[in-house]
Amino acid sequence: MSDNTPKKKLRSTEWFGHNDKNGFMYRSWMKNQGFPDHEFDGRPVIGICNTWSELTPCNAHFRKIAEHVRRGVYEAGGFPVEFPVFSNGESNLRPTAMLTRNLAAMDVEEAIRGNPIDAVVLLAGCDKTTPALLMGAASCDVPAIVVSGGPMLNGKLDGKNIGSGTSVWQLHESLKAGEIDLHKFLSAEGGMSRSAGTCNTMGTASTMACMAEALGVTLPHNAAIPAVDARRYVLAHLSGQRIVQMARDDLKLSKLLTRQAFENAIRTNAAIGGSTNAVIHLKAIAGRIGVDLALEDWTRVGQGMPTLVDLMPSGRFLMEEFYYAGGLPGVLRRMGEAGLLPHPDALTANGQSLWDNVREAPIHDPEVIRPLDKPLIDDGSIRVLRGNLSPRGAVLKPSAATPALLKHRGRAVVFENLEHYKERIVDEALDVDADSVLVLKNCGPRGYPGMAEVGNMGLPPKLLRQGIKDMVRISDARMSGTAYGTVVLHVAPEAAAGGPLAMVRDGDWIELDSDAGRLHLDISDEEYASRMADVQKSLTPPGGGYRKLYVEHVLQADEGCDLDFLVGCRGAAVPRHSH
Ligand code: FES
Repeated sequence: MSDNTPKKKLRSTEWFGHNDKNGFMYRSWMKNQGFPDHEFDGRPVIGICNTWSELTPCNAHFRKIAEHVRRGVYEAGGFPVEFPVFSNGESNLRPTAMLTRNLAAMDVEEAIRGNPIDAVVLLAGCDKTTPALLMGAASCDVPAIVVSGGPMLNGKLDGKNIGSGTSVWQLHESLKAGEIDLHKFLSAEGGMSRSAGTCNTMGTASTMACMAEALGVTLPHNAAIPAVDARRYVLAHLSGQRIVQMARDDLKLSKLLTRQAFENAIRTNAAIGGSTNAVIHLKAIAGRIGVDLALEDWTRVGQGMPTLVDLMPSGRFLMEEFYYAGGLPGVLRRMGEAGLLPHPDALTANGQSLWDNVREAPIHDPEVIRPLDKPLIDDGSIRVLRGNLSPRGAVLKPSAATPALLKHRGRAVVFENLEHYKERIVDEALDVDADSVLVLKNCGPRGYPGMAEVGNMGLPPKLLRQGIKDMVRISDARMSGTAYGTVVLHVAPEAAAGGPLAMVRDGDWIELDSDAGRLHLDISDEEYASRMADVQKSLTPPGGGYRKLYVEHVLQADEGCDLDFLVGCRGAAVPRHSH
């Protein structure tokens, strides 16, 4: 039975609830939009935080989603107000959308805190928009629910399915190896992105949508319903309806985003074969709500969890098939029945526990959501690697790697930065073979700046022509969630912050042991100390503006790459008024 009486005084009454000069001004200006008197009668004001932008193609359909949220809010007796925030589009933004994730989070936080908003619906889609919105809202700790934009329909080329990102990397490698021509390569463009929505692979956008669902900050099925499926709009409507009651019940994010919720998400990431970017984003979100998540939690909680979801880039299918197969509720049910859901009692946005939401979830296709005794990968966890090359950690996604390379010793071929890599990798005289270890520096949070998704650097064309498909690659960069390979990422500290990665030279021997969690530069202690003394922390921030602020304050990958002064929850106390 719903109770329409708010459990505590609503924030919005500080704006609209007084019949004095200030109340007059707050209400009067809003009335220029045609809102009648009764909208200001003390009903919950629901912010619809919209990352719509034509420059973020994955979120370009969000005005329609917002309309359906609005219907639900009105139906439940709330007062919906839509507002725009910075939109991080992965495909267009340079140098990388990661540079502006924290800018967007600041925008969200201050927009919520400074306005008459009691609770908020977060419209997220493209990769960085989900963490940015959750980070900003978490720092305010208001009631919030995420509505994702949903994935694109399956891509198509010559009658076959092709996946966002993943197929681009594959087709590009084939082009470089001379297996296909340019015409064939370009003909995939239109068919790959043929509907509204986010990448249809289990890339970072789908991963983060699954993370939001596993964290309990969405309604069930939010992650996988295709963007153009009418049920996506039903979910938006129901989320709008639900957030009104969450506002009345003061069901704040801190009641959902608990340590238990993060552990559920970490285990779920292994089950779905999720993106390595989740490691950084979950850490950043946790930091905003006061949950101390360590890199080792990914090993401790995730290890041993098989990957059940057979989706690209690790597997065969795409998000459309994932939804038809049962979506994330199906996966969570499988996990729960096997006792592999760490905290089934965790509270979710609809007021029920995670387990209550999924205990009867059907699974329609065991090829897509595989049974535990026939997993896609026996252990889908993300490995944390430490050693003298990554004292503060690095990560590796074994499910996207070549098993034979997970324990490897090879000679380094070093690229000082991305430009050096581009220039050198095509050099037919480059001293490199299939056993070499490609090392890319200065692509971390400070070095790039913004931590580029270039860790899955392409292989030397001369090796591709020999049929080599994978090599060990190490960098302080990130990797697109749609990418694959034996790729060591997020090396911390990064080269540009004086990390040991900066001292690696051509020909050095490097040892990788995924099972042992080890990444080692095989030089003597004396040589190591001598080279470290030479490593300069000589980073010149690129000009001024936001980039200067970012480079001076960004934390390393193991800390979630938030800005140091943004970590933590500052609450939603109403700021003083200005007139
Ligand atoms: Fe936006 Fe992949 S580029 S979701």
